[in-house]
Amino acid sequence: MRATLCCLAFALLSTVVAQQSSSGFTPLWVPLAERTPHFNAWKRSTATDWAVSPFNTMKQGHILAWTGYVKVDDVIYTFNGVVFDGANFNATASQVWRVTPTRTIQTSQAGPVQITATWTSPIEPEDLVKQSMPFVYFSMKAASTDGSSHSVQFYSDVSAEWLSNDLTTIVEWDTTTTANSIYHKASPQDPQPMVEESGLAQDGTLYYGVAKSSAVTWQTGEADDMRGQFNATHNLKNAVDTDSRAINDRWPVFALSWDMGDVSSDEEEAVFALGFARRPVIEYDAGDATQERYPYFLTEYSNADDAFEAFIADYDDATKRADALDSKIMDAAGSVSSDYADLVALGARQTLAGVEWTTTDDNDTDDVLAFMRQSGDSQRTNAVETLYAAWPAFLYLNATWGQYLLEPLLRFESSTAYTKDYPAPDLGSSYPVADGNKAPAQSLAIEAAGDMLIMAYAQAQISGSGYLINKYVGLSLLRSYGLSVEHFLMWFSTTASRSGRTTSKLPNGVSGEDNANLALKGIMGIRAMAGISDALGKSDDSKSYSNTSSSYMSSWADNIAGGVNAADGMMYNLYADKLMQTKLIPDAVCFIALELR
Ligand SMILES: *[C@@H]1O[C@H](CO)[C@@H](O)[C@H](O)[C@H]1NC(C)=O
Ligand SMILES: *[C@@H]1O[C@H](CO)[C@@H](O)[C@H](O)[C@H]1NC(C)=O
Ligand SMILES: *[C@@H]1O[C@H](CO)[C@@H](O)[C@H](O)[C@H]1NC(C)=O
Ligand SMILES: *[C@@H]1O[C@H](CO)[C@@H](O)[C@H](O)[C@H]1NC(C)=O
Ligand SMILES: *[C@@H]1O[C@H](CO)[C@@H](O)[C@H](O)[C@H]1NC(C)=O
Repeated sequence: MRATLCCLAFALLSTVVAQQSSSGFTPLWVPLAERTPHFNAWKRSTATDWAVSPFNTMKQGHILAWTGYVKVDDVIYTFNGVVFDGANFNATASQVWRVTPTRTIQTSQAGPVQITATWTSPIEPEDLVKQSMPFVYFSMKAASTDGSSHSVQFYSDVSAEWLSNDLTTIVEWDTTTTANSIYHKASPQDPQPMVEESGLAQDGTLYYGVAKSSAVTWQTGEADDMRGQFNATHNLKNAVDTDSRAINDRWPVFALSWDMGDVSSDEEEAVFALGFARRPVIEYDAGDATQERYPYFLTEYSNADDAFEAFIADYDDATKRADALDSKIMDAAGSVSSDYADLVALGARQTLAGVEWTTTDDNDTDDVLAFMRQSGDSQRTNAVETLYAAWPAFLYLNATWGQYLLEPLLRFESSTAYTKDYPAPDLGSSYPVADGNKAPAQSLAIEAAGDMLIMAYAQAQISGSGYLINKYVGLSLLRSYGLSVEHFLMWFSTTASRSGRTTSKLPNGVSGEDNANLALKGIMGIRAMAGISDALGKSDDSKSYSNTSSSYMSSWADNIAGGVNAADGMMYNLYADKLMQTKLIPDAVCFIALELR
């Protein structure tokens, strides 16, 4: 009996550990909140660096204040954010960071109590309503480590810096208490719709809330006052500061506190929810008209307040779903290698946080489009090569979502507003305004065409839905993409490549040295055309495309065997053969490509 219990305990422990990154992996920056392109906050994992930064502009140094203190037996410790009076506030000692696909977990010791802070950005592959909610959880657990019980209180606040990079922006706020929740809400007095500056949206509403409980107190007001109030009394006054003002005018913060009472060795948990909601989220030019697009969760909730309350109430179930998904992803990635699992743990929610999932102003659940911001370095929208790089993640999580991401490009480019006969690499560069790229460089067309074809085919295969290929091959858009690929390959196989590297100008304006890699993309694009034609019952076309791709592949493989010096990054394109299960690339080529790296 004892042996059985022991095994069981070990099994439970290993599940928890297996779903986290390995202990040697501490990213320099860890994500705290990652749900949308404009709700994406990171922090340095070093103990002395407390600032939280927006992902889009980490380098510019704008701070998103998100402060946390814990009091243990009346001694106060900082574990996040500003240490406002250095002499009196201690950083919690011995921090350890772990990441999972949905979470960042910080463990630290505050005197005789172990504190586990967990930032959860849910990934909800089964439920687009939940996936589209721009909210995250922040929980803190405390457990005594010396066998005695200790009095523990948590405090946390956020500032209005989440609302704009311009600190003179006037903001207003209020606090709502309902039957089940208490939450603060803050927004610019004069929001600028669809304007992004320094990576921050200027039209959002910040939410900070908790489930209603006698353990919770709250307050809004000047940062030093709120923090001093907690320091002095370990709770807040349930009072609102009604003086709307600039972000940096007596720094208003929105504070919550949770009194855990006496904590023993059992872990007690305090749970907070943070959100940043916009409405509408995207302005999309579908070719014939500009439409405002709304977050998908509005198909179920009439506004973000209701969705936020539902999110707070859902914590226990959301935790179970996150556990299950973390285990599933880390088991699968861990079977490749633990390094790979670490990268997946860090990358999964970052991939999803690039996207807004939208519907129309009349809640049409059949008209779902997704818009991805080129996170970090530009405001390109639905950049084709970035979608291609992220495609395995979307197809793994929910292949139907791939349709939502590709359709905005296909819909615009098949409209009369788009006059090119080759595809564009994006929907323009002014996210969240997706106004379409009407004059794309032709030099990017092969990459874009190959990517679109591969994505469309793999999406159809894995989702089992012919929606995209039917709708847009019917409009012969994918076919014309295929022809531009074919045109390029004809040139590639006859002229340039016997010697591998080339710097000559291609007929379509492409120049550069990495044409072997580009040609590989093109060949896989033609192979995708074969698969698409077959799925549409056009077997003659399918045979012809299949034949074309095979014969290009053999001449390409000869070039590779002859030492094409272009294997850097070639995995990115070799992978398409695995994704589409087309078995076109000889194993020997994959081997050579690996060797050349
Ligand atoms: C800070 O920590 C030190 C020990 O690390 C302790 O002696 C001191 O009392 C703490 N100060 C406060 C204000 O918590
Ligand atoms: C994938 O997403 C679609 C649409 O959002 C949803 O209807 C479907 O149930 C999801 N698939 C799974 C397996 O959960
Ligand atoms: C915090 O509380 C301690 C103990 O009451 C006090 O000595 C200290 O000055 C306070 N710190 C601040 C910044 O208010
Ligand atoms: C969806 O319908 C609800 C009413 O059921 C409405 O409040 C909400 O605003 C609608 N969403 C949009 C995007 O109009
Ligand atoms: C297949 O490709 C070869 C070489 O490009 C060509 O000679 C042949 O006619 C093609 N066959 C079909 C059925 O398209």
